[in-house]
Amino acid sequence: MLKVEGLEKNFGKNKVLKGVNLQLKEGEITVIVGPSGGGKTTLLRCINGLTDPDKGSIIINGKYLYKDGVASSKKDEIEIRKDIGLVFQSFNLFPHMSVLENITEAPRVVLGLSKEIAEKKAVEILSFLGLLDKKDNYPCELSGGQKQRVAIGRALAMEPKLICFDEPTSALDPGLTGEVANLIKKLAVEKSMTVLIITHDMTFGTNVADRILSMDKGILNEEHMYMK
Ligand SMILES: Nc1ncnc2c1ncn2[C@@H]1O[C@H](COP(=O)(O)OP(=O)(O)OP(=O)(O)O)[C@@H](O)[C@H]1O
Ligand SMILES: [Mg+2]
Repeated sequence: MLKVEGLEKNFGKNKVLKGVNLQLKEGEITVIVGPSGGGKTTLLRCINGLTDPDKGSIIINGKYLYKDGVASSKKDEIEIRKDIGLVFQSFNLFPHMSVLENITEAPRVVLGLSKEIAEKKAVEILSFLGLLDKKDNYPCELSGGQKQRVAIGRALAMEPKLICFDEPTSALDPGLTGEVANLIKKLAVEKSMTVLIITHDMTFGTNVADRILSMDKGILNEEHMYMK
């Protein structure tokens, strides 16, 4: 599903990724843990095409997003990125849009779906997430866990094959992390989604993961710390 080979990234003199290799299998949940500043978010941003690596390759479903440090053409990049969803730590919901509008915006603008079809799909997603009764509410009217689920719903609306989470539980009460863990497991099992999660929360990590990898000082340790 995803293959990262020899990925390197420097910010000035700061070597942030020092030859990272990673492979993800379809339907598998992989968690990356490790100390602050180790390069985890940078790796996730490279996989999502938001940060350009200096060297190395990223291959998604057999297609190169980067080959030996060179980005694919814009046209190919847009195609490849349709397969990848990213859920940010801070949710980044549109505050002036209702829950339903937050979820239908990208499918309408990026995929060109009609309002009716986008809303029909959004309603299915909201039922899956247990949020249908909040469809007309605004983000400021939701709890942290509900906002997190809307952010997940927004990524799901694009029907990605790979979904990435950066610190999905850091803004949540401890009681809500189990809820997010169950939801992510449901994505992998019921929607055969491949999931990549970065977290500091080991309880959450071991609960949700098929395997846990550690990353420190720009090096991803490919030996599993934990395997289900
Ligand atoms: N846009 C940027 N410009 C310059 N340096 C950056 C940039 N983004 C990240 N860095 C640096 O890269 C290093 C790795 O940052 P990154 O955000 O990938 O770490 P992280 O493992 O996600 O840490 P945390 O667990 O605290 O989120 C840090 O030293 C950071 O200062
Ligand atoms: Mg980070």
